[in-house]
Amino acid sequence: MIIPQEKIDEIVQASDIVDVISSYTQVKRRGKAFLALCPFHPDKNPSLNISQQKQVYHCFACGASGNVFTFVMEYDKITFVEAATKLAFRAGIELNIRSSAPDVTNEISRLFEINKMAARFFYDKLQTVAGYEKDFVNDYLKKREIKNDILRKFGVGYAEKGWDALLNHFREENIFSEEDIEKSGLIITNEKGKTYDRFRGRLMFPIFSENDKVVGFGGRKLFDDDPGGKYINSPETRIYNKSRILYGLNFARESIRANEYVLLVEGYFDVISLYQAGIHNVVASSGTALTTEQVQLISRYTKNVVMLYDADLAGIKATRRGIELVLEAGLDLSVVTLPEGEDPDSMVRTKGKEEFEVHLNNRKSIIEFISELYNKENKLSTVQEKTEFVKEIIGYISRIPDKIKRAFFIKEIAGKYGLYESDLRDELEKAVKVFRKEYFTKSSVVLPDKKTYKKQDKKNEPNAGEFDALKILVSGDHIAIEKFERLFNYEYIENKIVLEIIQVLLDEYMNFGKIEVNKVINNFENSDAKKLLGMVSTSKYEASKAENAGRDTLLFKTENTKIDYSKMVDEVFHWFEKRMRDRDTETENDPEKRLQLIINKKRLTNQKMKK
Ligand code: CTP
Ligand code: MN
Repeated sequence: MIIPQEKIDEIVQASDIVDVISSYTQVKRRGKAFLALCPFHPDKNPSLNISQQKQVYHCFACGASGNVFTFVMEYDKITFVEAATKLAFRAGIELNIRSSAPDVTNEISRLFEINKMAARFFYDKLQTVAGYEKDFVNDYLKKREIKNDILRKFGVGYAEKGWDALLNHFREENIFSEEDIEKSGLIITNEKGKTYDRFRGRLMFPIFSENDKVVGFGGRKLFDDDPGGKYINSPETRIYNKSRILYGLNFARESIRANEYVLLVEGYFDVISLYQAGIHNVVASSGTALTTEQVQLISRYTKNVVMLYDADLAGIKATRRGIELVLEAGLDLSVVTLPEGEDPDSMVRTKGKEEFEVHLNNRKSIIEFISELYNKENKLSTVQEKTEFVKEIIGYISRIPDKIKRAFFIKEIAGKYGLYESDLRDELEKAVKVFRKEYFTKSSVVLPDKKTYKKQDKKNEPNAGEFDALKILVSGDHIAIEKFERLFNYEYIENKIVLEIIQVLLDEYMNFGKIEVNKVINNFENSDAKKLLGMVSTSKYEASKAENAGRDTLLFKTENTKIDYSKMVDEVFHWFEKRMRDRDTETENDPEKRLQLIINKKRLTNQKMKK
């Protein structure tokens, strides 16, 4: 959809930036200026400056800036057109979008439209289905006690038992080709060439993207004669990447921000039931075990995760893995446990919101949670059992990026279990090393071979990885920098100036929680360091050096050309690891070089120790 320029002008006229931002966050007047708590970074003192005259905002702390459109886009994570639509609605401006004519100009938007059309079809069927299916479905919904307004909100629908109800609907509407419909995963063609609906006789949960678009479906089995699993989900498509979607996030966003935590549950019904009970900051990693990408998604809204998985074995396993991922991302985590056999949905329905909230308020730290697990199995009495327990906990703690937080956890365990902090710290050191190793061997990134980087090794020129490392520290977000700090190894860096800059930047981050290049740059006496830092900080440097080095360029070509700095840390460090390995083997039969290498390493390690 294209909004005509005169409409955009009209929206601008009608949307005063101070008014609009006031509806998201508290704005105070300071003389001529307006100040607000910046919603784009954790802000204690108002640092978002709004100029009513210029109709722009700028945050002095995190650098976020823009106009009324960018504010809404960034805050709600939506596109320009969506932000304009929202602002138009707010101002009562008619946009005259031909809502009946879907955008079918490219495959992605066709997939969105196909899913939307199917969701509406399923939703309508829930009301209009006839015969014995009607009674059956109504009975089922009555049992599950979901009210109509919630069904409507979540777009819950029904896929009929027949083989081709949806397919026929699409044929009648005759807007999309069967090829496209098949790409959405809603219909399937078997080897014999017969085409039929994927979802049959199932309660349908549309899966929405963060910005309210239907990207896929989960279908719950209703009938005993259905041979399929309890849930069938849409396959991955060009618009549905399971590991990047959290079910319910689009409905939960505001509440997550308001409550400053997210409640992470397992299933579709858990999200819906809790929502119905008035607990709105809930999301589920439905259809997959929790993924790193999902945790990253969460981290854009809050730093606090409360995990509430089922108390069965599968749930506990999922919780343990979830703990690792959440901690790795540098988020704070607590765990809620429910009595065995209950899940959030059953609990809130049978016992009510109050009792559910008792459990919710009784959330446990990971130490408490894990110790409870051991206790339950009576595995916390012998020295050996206790050792095992402490080792598991330390395994989790080793993943926390923040040293200070790690130290607090160590203190807590030492106090609780009468252990020496120094012993625990040694153990932690070991665990951090193990974790790093595991971290770098598990993901598979395509790396260049030796030759490609050797070519560009000019004297004194930082190599591609070193450039990127600086780029991450200068432009990366908190998560990326914290990850960098945790995983960084001084031996990665061969260029002395780069090493000096990195040390200063990391110090700055550890001391002030952020890196402001314009402030730091004056600390360097060395003008080469200044120059290099200045160069990396200007937006012109687009990691192109790395491309020249023949290194995998995938990460610089993300869809919206936004660089994923956290991913960049992984890839760049991978590159360093490989380079280090090569460096070692290359020099193996050359005693002189080898000696030099050892000396270098020693020196670098000493520098590291001095810090
Ligand atoms: N799930 C799935 N495929 C399955 C089973 C489960 O994708 N075969 C996913 C679904 O997202 C489901 C979640 O895992 O919601 C949790 O599974 P489970 O606890 O078995 O289901 P509930 O959500 O409790 O569903 P219900 O209450 O309908 O039994
Ligand atoms: Mn359930």
